[in-house]
Amino acid sequence: MTRMPFGKFSSGWPMNLIDTHCHLTFEPLADDVPAVLARSRQAGVTGWITVGTSLADSRKAVDLAGRGENLYASVGIHPHDAKDADDAAMAALKEIAGSDRVVAIGETGLDFHYNFSKQPEQKRVFAAHLEMAKELGLPVIVHSRNAFEETLEILDRCGDGLVGVVFHCFGGSAEQAGLLLGRGYCISFTGVVTFKNAQMAREAAAAVPMDRLMVETDCPYMSPEPVRSHKPNEPALMVHTARLLAELKGLSPEQFAEQSTATAMRFFRLPSAETL
Ligand code: NI
Repeated sequence: MTRMPFGKFSSGWPMNLIDTHCHLTFEPLADDVPAVLARSRQAGVTGWITVGTSLADSRKAVDLAGRGENLYASVGIHPHDAKDADDAAMAALKEIAGSDRVVAIGETGLDFHYNFSKQPEQKRVFAAHLEMAKELGLPVIVHSRNAFEETLEILDRCGDGLVGVVFHCFGGSAEQAGLLLGRGYCISFTGVVTFKNAQMAREAAAAVPMDRLMVETDCPYMSPEPVRSHKPNEPALMVHTARLLAELKGLSPEQFAEQSTATAMRFFRLPSAETL
C-alpha cells in the first residue's frame, strides 16, 4: 500500500511495525480510536497491543481488541492499583483473559517510585499475575520502576513455567539488560530511549539482540523526540523511536521493522494470517 504524507505523522515508515504496548482505552485516545488507528496505519504502525491496567480497563481493552483487525489486548492490574486486586478481581481478570483477543497478562510488576499501593501488596499481586500467566500459558508484560532487584527476585521465585516475559519501557543499564537476557526475557523500549538524557537506555538497547527487542509507545504518555512536546502520544509517533533504535542497531528501517515485528509476533504468538 502507498502511504500518503500525513502532517506531523508523515514518517513514511517503509514496513509494518507493531506497537506492543499502548493504552488505547485511555483518554483522549479512547475518544476516537478509529482516527488514531488510521494515522497509525498511515505512518506504518499496523498492529497494536492495548494493555489493561485495572479490571475495568482490561475489560475495555478486550472489548476494543474485538473490534479491530491486528488489534490485541493484554489484561492485568497495574502495581499502582494492586490495592484493588483482591481475589474476586483476580478471578474476574482470569475469566476475561480467556478471550481469544488476549495475548498477554499485564501490565503487572512493581512500582516503588510512586508506591501508590503498599509494597507487600504489589509483590503479592505481581506473584498472582505470574501464576495466572502460567495457568493460561500466556506471556507477561512487566512494569518495573525503582524495583529492579525485587522484580527479579519474584520472577526467580515464581517464574518457572512462564512462556515469556518482557520488561516494558526499559530504562535500565546494559548490565541490567544482560541480567534479563540471561533469563531469556525480552526487553521493550518506548520513546524514552530517544530522550537526550537517556544515554544509559541507548547503551542498553544497543546490547539487546533483535530477537529479544520490541518497540512500543506506552501512549498516551511519553512522546518521543523530536515530537516530545506533542500530546498525547499515539501509535503513529512510534516511528521516531523505531528510527532511533534502527540507527543504534546499525540496521535499515526495513531490517529493523522486519526483525522487531518478527520478535513481537513470536513473543505474543500473533496469528500471522491476520497480522500485517
Ligand atoms: Ni503502560
